[in-house]
Parts: sequence; structure tokens; C-alpha cells
Amino acid sequence: MQLLRENILQHNRTNAREERRHSGLLLLPKVQGEYRLFQERLAEAKVDSVLRKKRKGPLSSAKPQTTFSFLKPETVKRGAVGEVLARFERKGFHFRELMLHHITKSEAEKLYAVHRSKPFFQELVDHVTSGPVVLMVLDGPNAVDTVRRMVGATNPMEAVPGTIRGDLSLSITANSIHASDSAESVKKEASIFFPNLD
Ligand code: CMP
Repeated sequence: MQLLRENILQHNRTNAREERRHSGLLLLPKVQGEYRLFQERLAEAKVDSVLRKKRKGPLSSAKPQTTFSFLKPETVKRGAVGEVLARFERKGFHFRELMLHHITKSEAEKLYAVHRSKPFFQELVDHVTSGPVVLMVLDGPNAVDTVRRMVGATNPMEAVPGTIRGDLSLSITANSIHASDSAESVKKEASIFFPNLD
């Protein structure tokens, strides 16, 4: 009887050892996979830290920037202000300035001075002074180019759907919105309406 009990105990111990060995073997590929992933992440983190040290700043190349834009009179008249502002908000821009304003003839001539010799100059001045506009100064990463891409091509017939002009306008003069095309233009154009902007 005693011998039988010892035999059974011995058998159970052997079975338990065998089961542990077997589950260990089953787990092995999973553990190896996780270890490989861990090694890859570690290598990526090392590359990141080297790049960070070289750049002495964040990995993102986007620089904080300010831009100037205004919604043309037809956008205000047809009630599309909210639609356009919502796009900038959704994108993540911060409105530093936002103002309803009736542009005067002299402000419009200053604003579009570079187009003074163009055949469309007078029509453009007449249009932007025909009713209130919404002026804005926006802050965000690469603001000048990012806003210009959201605005789309000057000619709304060529503007890609999904852009503001591509979705909202059909006329080259009444093309919904104006946005400065460079940091120098931002300074010139914004200062006409916001002389105290830093
Ligand atoms: P905007 O971004 O306000 O800058 C200059 C504006 O000139 C432009 O949008 C158009 O509304 C207007 N414009 C009118 N005719 C033309 C044209 N043929 N080429 C370019 N711009 C034009």
C-alpha cells in the first residue's frame, strides 16, 4: 500500500515537471517575439535620443508662426463665417485676433498695393470694400503655408475640393478668403488693421 502511494506521488511529480517543461516550450516563441519587439523599440529610442541631441529641440520641424487672413464680404453675406472659422479651429489654430470690420478704400489699396498695376485691381478694391469682412490673426505651426494650403488655389475653379475655395466659391474676385503668402506679407497686411500686434 505504502509502495503504491509512493509510486503515485512520484508519477504525479513527473507529470507536473513534464507539464511545466511543455508549457515553457509553448511560451518560448511568444517570449522570443516580445523580446525582439522590445529590442526594436530600444533601438528606435536610441535613434530618437541621438536625433533629439543633434537638433537640440523637439523632433517635429514645425515652427510656431503667425499669419493674417480675412473672410471676404460674400462669405459674411451668405452666412459661411462659422463654416470657415470652424475649419481653422478643428485644425488646431489659435485666433489671436478676430474682428468684423468694413475695409475702407485706402486700407484696401494698401492691402493690395502689389496688384496696383493689374487689370483686376479696381474690381478687387471695390469688392473687398462692398461690405463687412472678418479679419483674423492666427497662430499655429507653419501657419502661413498651412493656412494657404487649407485656403486652396486663387482661382476657385482650380482649387481642389476639400479646400475652402474649392468648396465654397466659383469667382476669382469673390473667392471667399484672403491669406498672406509669406511672413513679410503677414507683417505688412496685419499691421494695416492691427497696428499694435507684436
Ligand atoms: P487674394 O488672395 O485676395 O489676393 C489677390 C486677389 O486678386 C486674389 O485673391 C483674387 O481675388 C484677385 N484676382 C482677381 N483676378 C485675378 C487674377 N486674374 N489673377 C489673380 N488674382 C486675381
